[in-house]
Amino acid sequence: MIARRSRVAVAFVLACAFYLFHKVVFSNSGSIGFDFVIPNDSRIQYPFKEKGIDARDAKKAEAVKEVMKRTWKFYKEKAWGFDEIKPVSGKHGNSRNGWGATIIDSMTTAAIMGLTDTFAEQYDWVVNHVDFNKPKGLVDPFETTIRYLGALVSTIDLLEAGVIPAPSPSFRQDILKQAKTLADNLGPGFDTPTGMIWPRINFTEGLGTDMHGRRNQHTIVHLARAGSHWLEYSTLSHLTGNKIYLENSTKAWDCLVFNKRGVPWPGILESPRSISTGLPIGTTRTLGAPDDSHYEYLIKAHLLVPNGPTKHHAKRWHQAMTSARKYLSSTTKSDTDPHTFLLSYSKRTYENNMGHLTCFVGGNILLGAKYLSQQSLFSFGEALIEGCHHSYASMPSKVGPESWSWMPRESHLRPPHFPGPITLPQKKMYEETGIWSTAPNYNLRPEVVESYFYGWRITGEEKYRRWAWEAFEAIVKATETEWGYSEVDDVTEVRKEGNLRDASESFWSAETLKYLYLIFEDPELCSLDKWVFNTEAHPLKRRF
Ligand SMILES: *[C@@H]1O[C@H](CO)[C@@H](O)[C@H](O)[C@H]1NC(C)=O
Ligand SMILES: *[C@@H]1O[C@H](CO)[C@@H](O)[C@H](O)[C@H]1NC(C)=O
Ligand SMILES: *[C@@H]1O[C@H](CO)[C@@H](O)[C@H](O)[C@H]1NC(C)=O
Repeated sequence: MIARRSRVAVAFVLACAFYLFHKVVFSNSGSIGFDFVIPNDSRIQYPFKEKGIDARDAKKAEAVKEVMKRTWKFYKEKAWGFDEIKPVSGKHGNSRNGWGATIIDSMTTAAIMGLTDTFAEQYDWVVNHVDFNKPKGLVDPFETTIRYLGALVSTIDLLEAGVIPAPSPSFRQDILKQAKTLADNLGPGFDTPTGMIWPRINFTEGLGTDMHGRRNQHTIVHLARAGSHWLEYSTLSHLTGNKIYLENSTKAWDCLVFNKRGVPWPGILESPRSISTGLPIGTTRTLGAPDDSHYEYLIKAHLLVPNGPTKHHAKRWHQAMTSARKYLSSTTKSDTDPHTFLLSYSKRTYENNMGHLTCFVGGNILLGAKYLSQQSLFSFGEALIEGCHHSYASMPSKVGPESWSWMPRESHLRPPHFPGPITLPQKKMYEETGIWSTAPNYNLRPEVVESYFYGWRITGEEKYRRWAWEAFEAIVKATETEWGYSEVDDVTEVRKEGNLRDASESFWSAETLKYLYLIFEDPELCSLDKWVFNTEAHPLKRRF
């Protein structure tokens, strides 16, 4: 009897403790109110024309275009039909199922740059040669959607907007046919209890699988994979008139967008998640990879169809970015030259390490904060872009590293027993710049110049164009090879010999060169008031 009563007492105490714990941990949920009005017409871009500013810099735009032409020339000569060229050896490789990723992923760049002959070659490949029923290997729906499908639907939008003359009167149905074949082959990916997408699809069997081709109910997905198809699928449904794409994509993302579980930091979700239940399996909270474009797409979904059912997405975005500012922002120790960066949080510990991929956040914040008139968020976005610029300016090559660390000024944000810079070169770099590189490679990534693009188009401040030009010159210098432009092993060295990786992904021409070009072109070309860029820089027409 006594034993039983004490067991009941213990159970009671435990229940109270559990309740209190939840109350403390989750007490923040909902405390950040939706204190803004979603405007129904709000200009995003800086009014260059009204201010009488000729924002076009034809000479610099031409220089970027020349690099695109050179990239294309060698790809065509040495790697045609393969996914990418190996720019040091002149060999070729297939990392995206062998559908000619470089050809298709750079179609929208060729269209925007007005490279008519290149575009005609790409169009012919898409309409007459590629076979989306026959992949090499398992298909990754995330990469396939943002690169291939995104490029196809964006090309239709760009052709219909007259950005480049149509190569054939039947372009719309010809490209759509291929886009539909691809999307329909990806369809089985959505066949899960939650509707969240499998990480891989076996096209032969028509089944979703885990990364290794197995049907495993314990499969996990990171946040970016759960929603980074919504812009592309929404556009595909609009173009085909078939709602299934939008419906599948909406369902796959809804358990995150409408997440009903309390979360400690409003808008910020723990990752990864189970595809069977949608619930978190891991404890990581980050705006960086592999969760990045979940956050990126929340505001972009709203901007794509402002009058569609996307108000909640904008609110979630606002919550997440407000939480990021409150919980994940950190400043370097220096009094004279402080810089702002984004932390991650995992296993109850902060990680004071930021990646190049995370640098999209600054530009994304400017985009959403301008639209929603959120001044303090806007300033946070500007500070993050400045921090990313510092990661470039600090390196001897003037190209930023894959990731870097710093000493948080805020002592509670320093991980316990944090050793600081370890090697001699790290210590030297830390003394001189306040940061040190933790992965010194540069993979031809776009995120830093992408944020400069938003900075320039939204604020009209000259410094963003200047930073973009400095980045362009430094990147070309560090990456140029006999057969194109290559990933670099170590941006802390200026030396070229043996410092190149013989690799280049399709986002070099799809994203990095496109954003650079757009910074120097007429800002009316793909104006942010009319277009939304998917996470591979393919512009999609906003629908009001
Ligand atoms: C915006 O909303 C106002 C008030 O509801 C309305 O008068 C106006 O026509 C709307 N503008 C657009 C572009 O929808
Ligand atoms: C797809 O599944 C079939 C049948 O199980 C298997 O033979 C094939 O190897 C799988 N494809 C890939 C790319 O793993
Ligand atoms: C839509 O999702 C279902 C699973 O719910 C799947 O069987 C179907 O193939 C998907 N279709 C498309 C076009 O995505």
